[in-house]
Amino acid sequence: MKVNGTPTRTIWLAADGASVCIIDQTRLPHAFEVITLSSWQQAATAIKEMWVRGAPLIGATAAYGLALAMQTDASDSGLELAAAVLRGTRPTAVNLMWALDRMLAVLRPLPQAQRRAAAYAEAAALCDEDVAMNYAIGGHGLEVFRTLWDQRRAAGAERLNVLTHCNAGWLATVDWGTALAPIYRFHDLGLPVHVWVDETRPRNQGASLTAWELNSHGVPHTVIPDNVGGHLMQHGMVDVCIVGTDRTTRQGDVCNKIGTYLKALAAHDTGVPFYVALPGPTIDWALADGVAEIPIEERSALEVTQMTGRTADGRVETVTITPAGSPAGNWGFDVTPARLVTGLITERGVCPASEAGLRGLYPEGV
Ligand code: MRU
Repeated sequence: MKVNGTPTRTIWLAADGASVCIIDQTRLPHAFEVITLSSWQQAATAIKEMWVRGAPLIGATAAYGLALAMQTDASDSGLELAAAVLRGTRPTAVNLMWALDRMLAVLRPLPQAQRRAAAYAEAAALCDEDVAMNYAIGGHGLEVFRTLWDQRRAAGAERLNVLTHCNAGWLATVDWGTALAPIYRFHDLGLPVHVWVDETRPRNQGASLTAWELNSHGVPHTVIPDNVGGHLMQHGMVDVCIVGTDRTTRQGDVCNKIGTYLKALAAHDTGVPFYVALPGPTIDWALADGVAEIPIEERSALEVTQMTGRTADGRVETVTITPAGSPAGNWGFDVTPARLVTGLITERGVCPASEAGLRGLYPEGV
């Protein structure tokens, strides 16, 4: 996507051909700053501290992390140490494990002297494939949106109202995004769309990142507190919900940012279609029951007890919003059972959220 008119991805190779540039997403929407990663340890920190986040981008950063590791120590132990540390940075998004396993499958059999070049080539290929998959998701989602829009327009609607949670836009991927890709494609065709943006406490990926993306791209949107969606759905103000996912099991259970499940329940109760957009690498074929089996990240209580924002004179400040001594819990993700999901929008097409549906599109899945 474009930032100030310049085509920009979320991760790219620096001019020295070795370091890796990322956007510091902890600074958005207040500042657009680029960080240059020059070691695999920095790549691990970038994932852990959420300078980068979003399942596909976490995977891409880990892939480049291994390339950075091959710069300094391409021995077996150098490779395995970096992979193990990168694997431990965040537990829920399966794209992290997928990307590392893909890199290891390429690098392990190679002689040390060939590992550096192979690692950079594989990381670059993985990033290009992510962009292509997300563009394709956008195309399939566009058809879903067109069908819904035809129905809504016939009923007198003036725009398609879409609700999304967290950030599954281009910032969460290498480019385009998953859940936001169909929205961009629909908007770019001149079709009328408006997005309800869940703020997504506690880290506010909706209010900070999705709103920034949509605002930069000129897509009409409204930021809403997380608790508003059910009310809007009851009053016919949401035509469709679409979210991304960090891990989807083979039976179609969808793990995504905390609060997604409540939106799916409200959508189910009110008859609003609830779609999930995902690339193939987000499917965890080893797992069936998402509620029982997906590891859910728990993060610092400080993310709940504190908020960061911009003061009237432009300073970015963090303040505490809870009484001293009140404990806080911070589960990062929840699981939406497949029965609440209208359809999965993948790079290969749209399918029911079920094992049969997924295997129909990915017969090779293991
Ligand atoms: O904690 P985050 O910001 O990494 O969580 C991101 C999400 O939950 C996204 O919805 C998900 O990764 C899908 S991104 C295409």
